[in-house]
Amino acid sequence: MTIVATAAALSLPISLSRSSKLNTKKGVRGGFRVVAVFGEEGGTGKKSAWGTLFDVEDPRSKVPQCKGKFLDVHQAVEVARYDIQYCDWRARRDVLTIMLLHEKVVEVLNPLAREYKSIGTMKKELAELQGELAQAHKQVHISEARVGTALDKLAYMEELVNDRLLQDRNTTASDQTSPSPSTSTQSLEVVQRKLQRKSLNVSGPVKPYHPRLKNFWYPVAFSTDLKEDTMMPIDCFEEQWVVFRGNDGKPGCVRNTCAHRACPLHLGSVNEGRIQCPYHGWEYSTDGKCEKMPSTRLLNVKIKSLPCFEQEGMIWIWPGNDPPTATIPSLQPPPGFQIHAEIVMELPVEHGLLLDNLLDLAHAPFTHTSTFAKGWSVPSFVKFLTPTSGLQGYWDPYPIDMEFRPPCMVLSTIGISKPGKLEGQNTRQCATHLHQLHVCLPSSRQKTRLLYRMSLDFAPLLKYLPFVQYLWRHFAEQVLNEDLRLVVGQQERMLNGANIWNWPVSYDKLGVRYRLWREAVDQGAKQLPFSESP
Ligand code: FES
Ligand SMILES: [Fe+2]
Repeated sequence: MTIVATAAALSLPISLSRSSKLNTKKGVRGGFRVVAVFGEEGGTGKKSAWGTLFDVEDPRSKVPQCKGKFLDVHQAVEVARYDIQYCDWRARRDVLTIMLLHEKVVEVLNPLAREYKSIGTMKKELAELQGELAQAHKQVHISEARVGTALDKLAYMEELVNDRLLQDRNTTASDQTSPSPSTSTQSLEVVQRKLQRKSLNVSGPVKPYHPRLKNFWYPVAFSTDLKEDTMMPIDCFEEQWVVFRGNDGKPGCVRNTCAHRACPLHLGSVNEGRIQCPYHGWEYSTDGKCEKMPSTRLLNVKIKSLPCFEQEGMIWIWPGNDPPTATIPSLQPPPGFQIHAEIVMELPVEHGLLLDNLLDLAHAPFTHTSTFAKGWSVPSFVKFLTPTSGLQGYWDPYPIDMEFRPPCMVLSTIGISKPGKLEGQNTRQCATHLHQLHVCLPSSRQKTRLLYRMSLDFAPLLKYLPFVQYLWRHFAEQVLNEDLRLVVGQQERMLNGANIWNWPVSYDKLGVRYRLWREAVDQGAKQLPFSESP
């Protein structure tokens, strides 16, 4: 960052303004200019000096007239550029207003001037200034909101440009001979081509899982559910495992099949940190080694075990053949949140379909009419914006931030202003929030183990209410059932050949991105989309 300061820069007020491309001078490009507004003597020349600093042309007269016209990407970017220029101009006006008012306050409060003014005059002047400052303050907030909107627009434009680039890349030679789609008569064709490009083929029986999808850490249970002497059978990638705690309290995950005659181990019991087969009593430690064989000589026998660790209230396994990565991801709610509910459900759908469902919010006012979206109106346009990264962003017009976290997690933060009302505000503007974690563990090609965790940044005592866990579970099940009947139906059709991603539209962005990520995994791509590491 380049900072230019004049010799008198230490005297206040100063002007801080972000250099825009349009206002770039050598040495200050992309940085901040810091310029003294007036010297120690102040004086009559101030206003003209400020005038030059803030004398930036009002860009509104130059904005291209495009209301109601169909714009191509370049024209739209030009409009967005004028938006930013306007924000810059508006911000300068706000700063100038505040500086002038600040100067007035200093003058009124000047102890040397006080003897010439009565207390009454000063009170009146200060009261007037207070009103003007409040007005300027409000103006700054409006400008702040404008900047936010301009940033949103830019993020949206970025999407369009990226889509256009992809489209250009995929355009066939014959397409290239057609004129560029810059008029409204050709827009339909463009939209159709774009949709065709984006359509994915997810149909037929689920393909066998690519080994690469197994090379991730997967949370399989909540710590509180795994007591000292309990076992937890878990299906993961169509293999049967059982999780239990060893003598040291640490969890282990072993194959849920006895080495002797393939009896399910989870029907047995845990004794002194070993799982005992219910058939002939063979006992295995958490690393899979058979340590006891009653009624016969002990043989050197071992069943397969997986790397298994406990972190931040969850049990994690690594089902892949590659060596596990050194770090287990963190799925903790953001600071200030308290966990209120942890629920596990076994669901009769493939985990990809469940993820598709969880990454979609546009269905809420149609599907969740008896639960959380009861009474919601249907917005004229629903968008998912991704300003920071490809798999993370926020819903417009809902105050909901959402992220797909590979390989199978969805994190969302929901701003709550009034119960049942979600429209019109972003999460930052809401005073209270609900945070959700959904882990969709791929149990088998038609089964998912869902781990759901709900946290709140308010009402910390709520979780101590008797039976409140049952209430949360009841509510979570109700919401899920509204989805499940639809997703099960989709699954049936998919197995019979229907494409469940036949015609994606703009609000399907996050779901489509998940499918592109999954497709890249299934094809063994070296670099996965939307991620920095391979
Ligand atoms: S089948 Fe397990 S001990 Fe015999
Ligand atoms: Fe839903």
